[in-house]
Amino acid sequence: MTRHFLRDDDVTPAEQAAILDLAVAMKQDRWGAKPLAGPQSVAVIFDKSSTRTRVSFHVGISDLGGIPLIISTANSQLGGKETPSDTARVLERMVSAIVWRTYGQDGLEEMAAGTTVPVVNALSDDFHPCQLLADLLTIREHRGALAGQTVAFVGDGRSNMAQSYLLACATAGMHVRVAAPDTFDPSPDVVTAAENRAAETGGSVLVVSDPVAAVAGADVVVTDTWVSMGKEDEKLERLRIFEPYRVDDRLMSHAAPDAVFMHCLPADRGYEVTADVIDGPRSIIWDEAENRLHAQKALLAWLLAA
Ligand code: CP
Ligand code: NVA
Repeated sequence: MTRHFLRDDDVTPAEQAAILDLAVAMKQDRWGAKPLAGPQSVAVIFDKSSTRTRVSFHVGISDLGGIPLIISTANSQLGGKETPSDTARVLERMVSAIVWRTYGQDGLEEMAAGTTVPVVNALSDDFHPCQLLADLLTIREHRGALAGQTVAFVGDGRSNMAQSYLLACATAGMHVRVAAPDTFDPSPDVVTAAENRAAETGGSVLVVSDPVAAVAGADVVVTDTWVSMGKEDEKLERLRIFEPYRVDDRLMSHAAPDAVFMHCLPADRGYEVTADVIDGPRSIIWDEAENRLHAQKALLAWLLAA
């Protein structure tokens, strides 16, 4: 059966670990694996802007011996003119996988249900699972292990990043905490799914409104923009509501003494994080950005072999 990667818990804990092991191997030998030799093509579709995801998939598919087809919705028949399932049925006749950055998770689900090739979520309103594979790889490199580590996400708890942190870290056996204003709590369904995973892996899940309670003793502190793509109309209100959730030196002082800071980027310095923190010695954001490449190459290779 075709495997898809639409959310972080679409892989089991063992499968997630296998993908990360493959990413480590691919990082060590960047041009050694050519599972897309042929060359096979992969469609990478964008309904929203991107720098990292666009470049890392383009370069990664090329590294794997394949051809990336980078498609903007604005120049395609998607986006109201053709359904995701009809699009998928056409693409599957020509490409080996479909990668899609979009708004609703339902579109991705429709795409996946209608096709025989793997579909990968390159960011939706609800999840950013490719970013989390990169983030887990980065945490593993800097902390030596994932299971047992404590991660605190501070900011928009309903965002794709917060919700992916919950699912991916629980899958990895980590202790994941989210600090968000009550009106921006993660979806209860996602929290339940993360709790179920944590029960399997020995991890834990905590959602609070107090950023200090989330960050206390944490090994990794994470934030993301307060205004995700598609939420621009709410910008002024969000800047007001999220003001107490800025990651600054004072908040970082509550974390473990050797804690690291992460951000998927792009960042708004002075809003969700101060320049002192994101550009300071604890920040590992550039390794995190590079690891998009290695993690996604491993994901594609794994999905094509599954
Ligand atoms: N982190 C991330 O997905 O960045 P882009 O929006 O630039 O792809
Ligand atoms: N939460 C952000 C992530 C950007 C990579 C957004 O959706 O805009």
